[in-house]
Amino acid sequence: MKSILFVCLGNICRSPIAEGYARALAESKALDITIDSAGTSAHHVGEHPCSDSIKVAKGHGVDIAQQHSRQVTQSDFKTFDIIVALDDANYRDLQAMGATNVVKLGAYGYKGADVPDPYYFHDFEGFEKVYEMISTYIDGLLEDAILQI
Ligand code: 4NP
Repeated sequence: MKSILFVCLGNICRSPIAEGYARALAESKALDITIDSAGTSAHHVGEHPCSDSIKVAKGHGVDIAQQHSRQVTQSDFKTFDIIVALDDANYRDLQAMGATNVVKLGAYGYKGADVPDPYYFHDFEGFEKVYEMISTYIDGLLEDAILQI
């Protein structure tokens, strides 16, 4: 496996954290993996990640401030070896778009739960939980990816 695309709904809260964490981890392990993220919706195209996602990632030493939201495209399904959905709704939407190489991030440890959508969270605490879940899942995902390289 050489390329991974993380997909959530808006590509401003969860998948930017996943992209940033996975890229930092791959770099630290000197893995040659292309990593990107996108959203199933076009609502926030061009926007930077939400401020609490930037803040939580920064607190863990990961800079995601320069990312921009983009919408997933059909060509992504050919370009990327694996498309990773952050929750069940994202998974279903990607399958409905015709993607056959989709997995749920929840497949990689941590009891299989969805990464909750933090868009309507009122406290920063929720973003710490989201970061913890995403980082734990991606540790498992990249270990699996390493085996397949
Ligand atoms: P994300 O969060 O999918 O983690 O980027 C959301 C961002 C925007 C919306 C919902 C979730 N929205 O409804 O606009």
